[in-house]
Amino acid sequence: MLAGGLHSALVTPDDARRRLIRQLQGAFSGERAAGLAYAGHWRASNDAGERSRIREIEAEEWQHREQVGAMLKALGAGPARWREWVFTAIGATLGPLCHLTPWFFPMWGAGRLERGNVGEYEVAAALAQQAGHSEFVEGLLEMAEVEWEHERYFRECLAGHPLLMLFPLWPPLPDKARIRARHRAAA
Ligand SMILES: [Fe+2]
Ligand SMILES: [Fe+2]
Repeated sequence: MLAGGLHSALVTPDDARRRLIRQLQGAFSGERAAGLAYAGHWRASNDAGERSRIREIEAEEWQHREQVGAMLKALGAGPARWREWVFTAIGATLGPLCHLTPWFFPMWGAGRLERGNVGEYEVAAALAQQAGHSEFVEGLLEMAEVEWEHERYFRECLAGHPLLMLFPLWPPLPDKARIRARHRAAA
């Protein structure tokens, strides 16, 4: 799924630019859903350490949204309206739900989604390179690394929980250093 295919000769800079915009639009709206969901998640927690870490994660998602929004603007694009609507509805539903569901489920759902976010930013970094926007690459790789940390946090919180018998953890991510190594190898 990653950079190898995206760096093929068949991907022209124009194609890559179009795909980059779509990828960033997805990330921009996804970050809004995440921010709204985490705003409910940390407030629903009774543990001070957990509240503080999830609140920090929420702030990082809003910061990502700002960064991605600036990239879209620089590309002469903006958010995809329908994505904004759908992801706002998802985040606004998940946030309050955290108060109603057992501890395990928001933690499991957050970790599972964070795992996907890492790859999404890696793809965006590869597309930025291909589209001739290497000025975005560092920021996108950094966001992939922050998402990697988010996934690790939720995975560690869940370790040993009995419900993992029914809802197993997803396959682990490779080491964080692999994010940059893969990007370098494909560039
Ligand atoms: Fe994020
Ligand atoms: Fe995240």
